[in-house]
Amino acid sequence: MSGEEPLTQQQEPEQVKKPDEPPPVAAPAPAEAKPESGSSRPAAAEEEKTISYRALVLTGYGGYEKIKLQVKSMNKSQLKAGEVLVRVKACGLNFAELLGKQGLYELLPSPPITLGMEGSGVIEAVGEDVTNRKVGDRIIAMNRHGMWQELAVVPANRTFPIPEAMSFEEAAALPVNYMTAYMMLFEMANLRPGKSVLIHMAAGGVGIAATQLCQTVQDVTIFGTASASKHETISQGGVTHPIDYRTKDYVTEIHKISPKGVDIVLDPLGGSDSQKGFSLLKPLGMLIVFGAANCVTGQKKNLLAMAKTWYNQLTLNTLKLMQTNKAISGFHLGYIHDEELFKMTLIKLLELYQQGKIKPRIDSCYHFEEVAEAMKRMHDRQNIGKIILLPEPKKSEEKPKSNAEAAENAEKNEAAVSEKKEEPAEEVETEKD
Ligand SMILES: NC(=O)c1ccc[n+]([C@@H]2O[C@H](COP(=O)([O-])OP(=O)(O)OC[C@H]3O[C@@H](n4cnc5c(N)ncnc54)[C@H](OP(=O)(O)O)[C@@H]3O)[C@@H](O)[C@H]2O)c1
Repeated sequence: MSGEEPLTQQQEPEQVKKPDEPPPVAAPAPAEAKPESGSSRPAAAEEEKTISYRALVLTGYGGYEKIKLQVKSMNKSQLKAGEVLVRVKACGLNFAELLGKQGLYELLPSPPITLGMEGSGVIEAVGEDVTNRKVGDRIIAMNRHGMWQELAVVPANRTFPIPEAMSFEEAAALPVNYMTAYMMLFEMANLRPGKSVLIHMAAGGVGIAATQLCQTVQDVTIFGTASASKHETISQGGVTHPIDYRTKDYVTEIHKISPKGVDIVLDPLGGSDSQKGFSLLKPLGMLIVFGAANCVTGQKKNLLAMAKTWYNQLTLNTLKLMQTNKAISGFHLGYIHDEELFKMTLIKLLELYQQGKIKPRIDSCYHFEEVAEAMKRMHDRQNIGKIILLPEPKKSEEKPKSNAEAAENAEKNEAAVSEKKEEPAEEVETEKD
């Protein structure tokens, strides 16, 4: 569902297909499937069931301009057994989409493809054999891609009812970040009282989720790396020792506080940071590699950064593991195919939310038209918590919705980002799917 793996080179921008060509994948997202040909229904009835919706489509690899706001249409009769049609209210932006835009996310089919792995909304129609969801239900929805659109068709078993107190924004912020953090901490690393954890990108979506989940266990010490401006917030959020990785060597800083190192390292960076993480482990400790953020340096693919990350990656043999009494794991939510595990994890997280033990921190909300600004905020390392995209069209006078502190940052950022005037997102009338 998210994260990144060894990087795969995908199609280059010049080879990109026209938006109306189907993506060359085995199974396109249901919402983008074409209507069955040879239908016997009268054309007028078909016409009636046809609905238009806006979608954020990755049209090729490269900069922000490759993501276009397009108008698509679908036919409600396309809904298959086991599927539901969701009117999307909020979507999560994940680091994986920064990678996907550069052609570095192997689970994303080649462009043109609608982005987005998670969202929340209201069920508008249900497929024939769907009995546990009904029209009007407020739900969290997950899909491999295709959630960044006003209407999305998703498998009913990848939808989960939202607690009454939970906003659509919080619901969209929960699945990928919290499931990733939960499975790593509790299924893999078996976090127990008294342990210590190093969380990189501690002010980001997964970082804040991991911090909150660590606090559901007694007496866990959290080392968190983040840009200095975010330290006050993450300390208040539960990070015991915030470290500014941009000006200090975090290995030295951790050793000053804990000479023996830490029990668990969550590594979303890759390359030399995996080596450092391994060196920081106490005996019987575990390093979990779950990303390669070091490959990303700007909005476009950086081959040098990729090569450096690849070259510096941690390689060692099992004998070395035995001699050091350490464990290395890899985690990727996108390769979790156990539906029961998926469901039970999300249900557990919703319980924790209702008990007040976890609460997604929303950094900022951007309308679909502002997707470039939203992505730039993450690229520029400005976010504290989750960035949300809203399908609802932007009213001309409206500013990005954000919490107080982020709003201030956002304004500074906005000023820096767009000295040039905001350009309206291009709307493209596509052929009927
Ligand atoms: N394997 C999986 O299943 C899985 C699932 C979800 C996420 N992930 C991985 O977890 C990591 C965090 O993902 P997220 O969605 O929660 O994003 P995020 O942490 O909100 O990402 C943005 C923050 O990361 C930090 N950062 C560090 N290196 C960066 C870089 N090269 N470019 C931009 N920002 C960088 C910045 O904060 P500071 O400057 O404060 O550090 C930035 O504000 C990513 O590596 C992602 O791929 C993996």
